[in-house]
Amino acid sequence: MPNSERLTRDGSLQKNQQERYQSKQQNKPQIVLQLDKLNKIFNPDTPLENHVLHDISLQVSRGELVALVGTSGSGKSTLLNVMGLLDVASTGELRIQGQLIQGHMPSGLSEQQRTQLRSEAIGFVFQFHHLISAFSVLDNVLMPLMLRYGKPSAEQTAYAEYLLNEVGLSNFIRQSTNRLSGGQQQRVAIARALVTRPALVLADEPTGNLDTQTADEVFNLFERFNVEHECAIVIVTHDPRLSARCPRTIRLSDGRVVYDGASADLPSVFTAGL
Ligand SMILES: Nc1ncnc2c1ncn2[C@@H]1O[C@H](COP(=O)(O)OP(=O)(O)OP(=O)(O)O)[C@@H](O)[C@H]1O
Ligand SMILES: [Mg+2]
Repeated sequence: MPNSERLTRDGSLQKNQQERYQSKQQNKPQIVLQLDKLNKIFNPDTPLENHVLHDISLQVSRGELVALVGTSGSGKSTLLNVMGLLDVASTGELRIQGQLIQGHMPSGLSEQQRTQLRSEAIGFVFQFHHLISAFSVLDNVLMPLMLRYGKPSAEQTAYAEYLLNEVGLSNFIRQSTNRLSGGQQQRVAIARALVTRPALVLADEPTGNLDTQTADEVFNLFERFNVEHECAIVIVTHDPRLSARCPRTIRLSDGRVVYDGASADLPSVFTAGL
């Protein structure tokens, strides 16, 4: 078998990370997310002014799996929140699937349009999964669709059940979420993030609360969905083992991008103290 290929645990052939990264770069796939000179200043023009993101420019394409790393306070969550339209940048441009969301434009998006785009194009997974224990596992997964369309259709319900089966929770569909383990709850949150078939999945330390084995299992799911659904995924993690499994790493330091490239080429000076 050529060096560049290896068998994965389930027996399928996987190309070496670097090759996957390079071939994706060469094919110039569809750009899902584009940031140009983005800045975020909290409490501007006050004594508490805090310039947290500095001239961030980057692109994320369809099917990419990207680790976003950096020391605590470097701006990872702030950047993820801006990418996911949960927060607004102070200056710069942000495009999602080519559509200008923020920047110079004749008329800005209304709050309603932002909310609609967010719910159509983006799925979120947080460290604390924010499930609603009064609802069943299935209803938690269906929640983004219910918020958007009201009562879910038979097709939507079938897709939610398919996702729950995919994340290994088909036996728990009707149960309340508070009877699940931390890893199981995080898997529900992943199914919930995917139920709208988003082009972009943003995950902020999704395995931060889990033991090593459960974290690996949850990460396996991200890898699988990334390949099978070709959604772009950006994962914030402090775990160097997991970031090394993402073909591409973006590293922030004091709100600036100090590395953006193949994870395999990340300078060793950066791999300490993730
Ligand atoms: N709402 C806010 N108002 C003012 N400052 C904020 C706000 N949110 C974040 N900050 C500041 O922005 C900086 C970056 O915070 P952020 O949460 O993005 O870091 P992080 O890289 O996600 O850290 P961690 O790894 O600890 O989660 C910090 O100095 C933080 O204090
Ligand atoms: Mg954070």
